[in-house]
Amino acid sequence: MDRTVQAYDQTNYLEWRLNEEVERKRNGQPTFWEPELLYFLSLVSNRCLVEIGAGPGVEAEYLLNHGNFDSYTGIEPALKLANYAKRRLKKEFGPKVNIKTLTLQQFEPRCKYQALLAICSLIHIKNIRKALCKLRSICSDGAFAMFVMDEGRGSVKVRTNTKGMTFYYYTYAEFVELLQESRFTVLDKSGVVERAKVNWQVYYVRAV
Ligand SMILES: C[S@@+](CC[C@H](N)C(=O)[O-])C[C@H]1O[C@@H](n2cnc3c(N)ncnc32)[C@H](O)[C@@H]1O
Repeated sequence: MDRTVQAYDQTNYLEWRLNEEVERKRNGQPTFWEPELLYFLSLVSNRCLVEIGAGPGVEAEYLLNHGNFDSYTGIEPALKLANYAKRRLKKEFGPKVNIKTLTLQQFEPRCKYQALLAICSLIHIKNIRKALCKLRSICSDGAFAMFVMDEGRGSVKVRTNTKGMTFYYYTYAEFVELLQESRFTVLDKSGVVERAKVNWQVYYVRAV
C-alpha cells in the first residue's frame, strides 16, 4: 500500500479532523470549507457527485445536507477513514451514498459525473498530469469541479513528512496550466484563500 495512505490510517488524522469539527460546532463556527462549498453548490446542486480523497466525509455531509444530489460517490483509500465515512454517510443519506476504498488510480467508474470535488487530496499524487486526465475522463462535458491544493513556491516541490506522507506542491499559475492542459477551464472565482495561517489554492473549474 502507498505509504501516504498508510500514514492516514495509522496517524490520528481521523481524530484530529473530528475534534476540529466538534470544536467548530461548539464555537458556532461554520465548517472549515463552508464559503467554498456554498459557491460550489451554486454551480452544481444536483446530479451525480464524486469526491476524491473523501476522508471522514465531513464535506460530503455538508454538501448532501445543503444540495440536492442524486448520488454521492466517495473515493477514499485509507480504510479507517473510508469505514468511518461509510458509517456516517450511509446512516444519514442511505443508498444514494457509495464509498469505495480505492485510490484515484484504482477507481474505474462505469458512469460519468456532473460534479467533482477533491479537497487536499491531489497534493499526494505524483503523476498529476495523468491524474487530471483521468479526472477529466470521468466528468461529463460541462461538469463542474472544485480542487483545493496547498500553495507551493517555485516549480513542483516534493516533501515527505515524519509520518511518511508525501506532498506535491505547485504554484497557482502552474496548476492553472495543468488544469487547462487537461481540458478544465478555470473559473474567475478561483484564487488563493488564507485560512488558519495557510494559503489554500481553490480552483473552480468546468470540464470542456
Ligand atoms: C489531507 S486529507 C483530506 C481528506 C478530506 N478531503 C478532508 O478534507 O478531510 C488527504 C486525503 O487524500 C487521500 N489520498 C491520498 N492518496 C490518494 C490517492 N492516490 N487517491 C485518492 N485519495 C488519496 C488520503 O487518504 C486522505 O484521506
